[in-house]
Amino acid sequence: MTTTAATAARRISYQLETLWDYDYEPTHHELESLYETAKKNQWNASTAIDWSRPIGKEGPVLNVPSAFSGTSFFSRLTSEEQKEVEVRVSAWRLSQFLHGEQGALLVCGQLVNSVPELDAKLYASTQVVDEGRHVEVYERYVKKLLKIYPVDPLLKALIDEILATPLWELKLLGMQMIIEGLAIAAFNVMRRQTADPTLASVLDYVLQDEGRHVNFGYFALRRSIPDMAPDKREMLEDFAFKACDLMYGRDERTGFQSIKHVWEEMGWDGEEIWRDTIANSQTAKTFNRMLFTEVLIPRLQRLELISSRVEPRYREIGLLT
Ligand SMILES: [Fe+2]
Ligand SMILES: [Fe+2]
Repeated sequence: MTTTAATAARRISYQLETLWDYDYEPTHHELESLYETAKKNQWNASTAIDWSRPIGKEGPVLNVPSAFSGTSFFSRLTSEEQKEVEVRVSAWRLSQFLHGEQGALLVCGQLVNSVPELDAKLYASTQVVDEGRHVEVYERYVKKLLKIYPVDPLLKALIDEILATPLWELKLLGMQMIIEGLAIAAFNVMRRQTADPTLASVLDYVLQDEGRHVNFGYFALRRSIPDMAPDKREMLEDFAFKACDLMYGRDERTGFQSIKHVWEEMGWDGEEIWRDTIANSQTAKTFNRMLFTEVLIPRLQRLELISSRVEPRYREIGLLT
């Protein structure tokens, strides 16, 4: 990447209204209890996690036979290659978690300014601190493990669109519901596949916070969607579909394809392993089930964002039957 392109990729320009709330009246009862829980459950990443343990020595960072079960490429690997896959794939995944957390930090800072009601701003302020801590733990862990891989282009494109929109409702939908839904599915998959006590503890702590964040998005959107202007609502519906379509990795156009760099770094054919994993990997199937069937689709349906206008598109790509 040239220096100019690199600078452009770091900068997002947008216009955003900052709103004061002089009413000082509670508006969301659910937010009050969420805010109390957020204050009570704060943790210090420096002391809550035992950083003195050697990483990957007490158990594998990633249980690769389980992570790649079903694929054909994995059965051909030597044990040294399997070990390298364990470290590199984990570092790639954790790098995406890290970039996603930084994106969440940036969006939450915007939400403090742009959500209209003070109780929502207060809740969002706790999420800013949570996301800062998540950046801290993933950065610390991935640097100990190997290195930070670049942000995946799809993840960056989705977060940039969420950052650039002037609509706080779209920021909440995009970040709290969709990207954080994605994060919860990905963190849970990683949690099941790791036997490293430090990573297990990092994921347990982060997941505790993420559950609140998704609830914040859900409560605030549930309240604002019914009275929303039809054109704004259609924008939300269209964004949700586009994000689901792109995140549902199933071909050359969709999914988080920068994992191919890892395979290429090892001297292998990235395209071939990509096709093998999306078609055959149990992890890919579990991840899609957790993300779409268990988390996103039911939530979008409850928010009535899968209208009869967009429903056929979800059926067409197989996310609704
Ligand atoms: Fe987070
Ligand atoms: Fe979060």
